[in-house]
Amino acid sequence: MSTVLGIDIGGSGVKGAPVDLTKGDFAADRHRIATPSKSTPKNVVRVVGEIIDHFSGSLDKESPIGITVPAPVRHGKIPMMANLDDSWEGLAAEKFFSDELGRSVTLVNDADAAGLAEVQFGAAKGTEGIVILTTLGTGIGTAVINDGVMLPNTELGHIEVDGHDAESRAAMSVKENEDLSWKEWAKRLQRYYETMQMLFWPDLFVVGGGVSKKHEKFLPLLDLETPIVPAQLQNKAGIIGAAWLAAERAR
Ligand code: BGC
Repeated sequence: MSTVLGIDIGGSGVKGAPVDLTKGDFAADRHRIATPSKSTPKNVVRVVGEIIDHFSGSLDKESPIGITVPAPVRHGKIPMMANLDDSWEGLAAEKFFSDELGRSVTLVNDADAAGLAEVQFGAAKGTEGIVILTTLGTGIGTAVINDGVMLPNTELGHIEVDGHDAESRAAMSVKENEDLSWKEWAKRLQRYYETMQMLFWPDLFVVGGGVSKKHEKFLPLLDLETPIVPAQLQNKAGIIGAAWLAAERAR
């Protein structure tokens, strides 16, 4: 199974692309549809279905699909949801998607998927020891990987920094909403990453999310002992990691 569809459900858009797993890259241009403003599971699965239809010509009916969600996924269930409709909480979401879409679905946290992709194909390939990937987007997602083995469902975007939930001060969406300059935002990122460094002493931080394309605007402003590098797969990582995991599960 060398091409598998990956879909990334985010706070603002649902994006999908077939992934060539031998290359670790998209096999066709990605398709994006805005996340419904009432982002309930029913409304979102409809959009996911439209993305599958868009690629159905090139998809094998039996092929599994990897889907990311911006929430922890514990054995297919979503225990909490920060950035989509509250009605996701407690849902057996993997089963829900499989039933609604009539396909075998692997559901995974968005940052975990991105972390897996960066370890398999990107910036953390071959890194020994602890890698922490952070995605800076609507929220802050994290993946913790030690010697290639992931500790899933870490929610370290929600650690308390200076009395605040970290993502409420340092996510990319906060930079936009509060109209922060790169320098002002970098000060908040500095507090976030130095706290993470003090708690985990990782060997490498990888910074993902769409904003990682503009890494030269903020990474040089950070002063950390731990090396910090931009994600190589940038905002493709979630889709690639979800497809990779779906294929692994199907093996
Ligand atoms: C969620 C995480 C998610 C992150 C990035 C956080 O608010 O709690 O599960 O990985 O946002 O989307």
